[in-house]
Amino acid sequence: MDRSSYNPNYNIFIGNETGRSILRSAGKSNPITIDDYLNQGGYQALKKALWNTSPGDVINEVIQSGLRGRGGAGFPTGLKWRTCAGVDNPPRYIICNGNEGDPQAFADKYIMESDPHSVLEGMIIAAYAIGAVRGFIYVRDQYTRAAASLTRALDDARRQGFLGSNILDSSLSFDIILIRGGNAFICGEETALIAAIEGKISEPGDKYILPVEKGLWGQPTVVNNVETWANIPIIIDYGSESFALTGARGSPGTKVFSLTGNVVNPGLVEVPLSTSLHTIIFDIGGGIPGAKFKAVQVGGPVGGYIPGSMLNLKVDYDSLRGAGTIMGSGGIKVMDDHTCMVGSARYAMNFLAN
Ligand SMILES: Cc1cc2nc3c(=O)[nH]c(=O)nc-3n(C[C@H](O)[C@H](O)[C@H](O)COP(=O)(O)O)c2cc1C
Repeated sequence: MDRSSYNPNYNIFIGNETGRSILRSAGKSNPITIDDYLNQGGYQALKKALWNTSPGDVINEVIQSGLRGRGGAGFPTGLKWRTCAGVDNPPRYIICNGNEGDPQAFADKYIMESDPHSVLEGMIIAAYAIGAVRGFIYVRDQYTRAAASLTRALDDARRQGFLGSNILDSSLSFDIILIRGGNAFICGEETALIAAIEGKISEPGDKYILPVEKGLWGQPTVVNNVETWANIPIIIDYGSESFALTGARGSPGTKVFSLTGNVVNPGLVEVPLSTSLHTIIFDIGGGIPGAKFKAVQVGGPVGGYIPGSMLNLKVDYDSLRGAGTIMGSGGIKVMDDHTCMVGSARYAMNFLAN
């Protein structure tokens, strides 16, 4: 069912059109096939970047869009790229974080399974912008369909000249390797993820060493989340100004949330950032089936529980932080008045301890 029809007031601006942004292909085509992706304007952003834009201008466009990383902390993506590009110690690497370790989060899984080329295109554009020679996509092993979909997409992209030597007759030579990871939550922490790709035990490293300076094999490395990568072609296609029309100041664009728990319509929901919890849970999610609302967990086990008195809270990076929680991987778990909050908190703490 088309979830945007639950609330006719929600418009996400993409160029001159309205509709969904990251999930724009859902139900409309089969973007696993490269032909369908190309027919929808796929890889046009890459052509625009390679043929008409300098690497520095691509980075500036991403900075001006205000895009913040969708993997949890909300760090400005363009600034991360600029820092990495400025470290004069090639080779540089880029990584797609497809670990998605939060229980009940499944947005990244969906994006990798059903629109893999949007992720690849974002990564190839970044390779051009920062001068990277190699990319890695780290996918949790449980995500077999995502891995299959990405493998096919990588093969198709290589065949069509979007990956490999002198991509689209430019000076860019770049390829992407798919890595099947373990299934541990901690592997999603970027330094632990880098250790895993290096073949080491996946444990977080020293926090003062930044991957953009000393990442994979000690080289400058950009790590971004799946959904962050999928936003890049949209920004380059339609421009940073258009991108920033959606969402809030400080949190532009949309976010795909995994809406779960005691709600009538669970599933993936893409909304402009800064949409209220009330809108997401009641207008889109259809409310609580046969019971009363008690609380909502936002941000997964590291996040927090929001009570009914705060349902007007806007879901964006700064508002959530102000309320004492985080965006995390975009999990929104609704709890009705039969839920034991102590049991729920115990589950979260046990999960993190394990
Ligand atoms: C314990 C822990 C687990 C994490 N798990 C993930 C994850 O599964 N996926 C993800 O994208 N980021 C995860 N992160 C955040 C990453 O360390 C990193 O900040 C992120 O991949 C950067 O991408 P972004 O800037 O696009 O958000 C995790 C962080 C911590 C501390």
